[in-house]
Amino acid sequence: MIKTETHGRAGLIRLDRPEALNALSDALMEELGAALLGFDADPAIGAIVITGSERAFAAGADIREMQDRRFPGTFREDFIGARWETVLRVRKPVIAAVAGFALGGGCELAMMCDIVLAADTAKFGQPEITLGIIPGAGGTQRLARAVGKSKAMEMVLTGRVLSAEEAERANLVARVVPAAELLAEAIKVAERIAALSPVAAAMAKQAINVAFESTLREGVRHERQLFLSLFGSADQREGMAAFLDKRKPRFGEG
Ligand code: CAA
Repeated sequence: MIKTETHGRAGLIRLDRPEALNALSDALMEELGAALLGFDADPAIGAIVITGSERAFAAGADIREMQDRRFPGTFREDFIGARWETVLRVRKPVIAAVAGFALGGGCELAMMCDIVLAADTAKFGQPEITLGIIPGAGGTQRLARAVGKSKAMEMVLTGRVLSAEEAERANLVARVVPAAELLAEAIKVAERIAALSPVAAAMAKQAINVAFESTLREGVRHERQLFLSLFGSADQREGMAAFLDKRKPRFGEG
């Protein structure tokens, strides 16, 4: 259900459940979580790409598996919380490379990643309302923060799907690329990040994520602490010395 590869210092995770358009079953989410934590712990990896197939990044939580779930069992097992949020624990940057459907939990998984790159074939939506439920993996919260209230309301209340172009206009994705170039482009971005200072990248990610959870004042204070602490890193000395020596920096000393 999951395939992993490495491309230089980029770790690639492919969701591979074609018979169900990569529907996110419990087993798939467990495998995905293990792969993410494996790459996060591997010092040879600097950034991670999650992708699906040409047809689907992921068509959402597995409806066949969900149909027999009942409350309070859902609460007791911590459905979603127990398996879906591992990606939020990853400290290295995670890029979602999305082609085809990113619906429901698929759209939510992409939004939990740090950068979303979309193929021109990508389709984003939160169709849970058509199943008699609502998004449960951050789809009302991260979507509203990304695209604003009115568009989030329209998507969540009607299930309307956005094209890649509309998703880019709405700030749901960083950029749209031709489908044939999606994976190469995502790996290129991951390799670029992975060549920079790992500690600075992890702190940059953390600082931006704090922007979504704090007041401006708290967020700036957090950023300042991280910024100041980087002056204790070998990568700061190396980066600045390399600039002044007009040579390429060699990062990775921490
Ligand atoms: N769960 C389980 N199986 C799914 C699935 C899902 N989310 N999405 C697709 N599949 C299965 C289909 O049942 C079908 O299987 P069979 O061949 O065995 O019938 C196979 O994948 C191919 O799908 P379709 O035949 O439907 O393909 P299509 O091209 O006609 O339509 C689609 C594609 C529009 C994506 C359609 O499959 C679809 O609407 N899927 C469901 C999307 C959805 O509602 N997602 C939200 C799930 S709820 C959720 O995610 C909750 C949350 O917030 C965490």
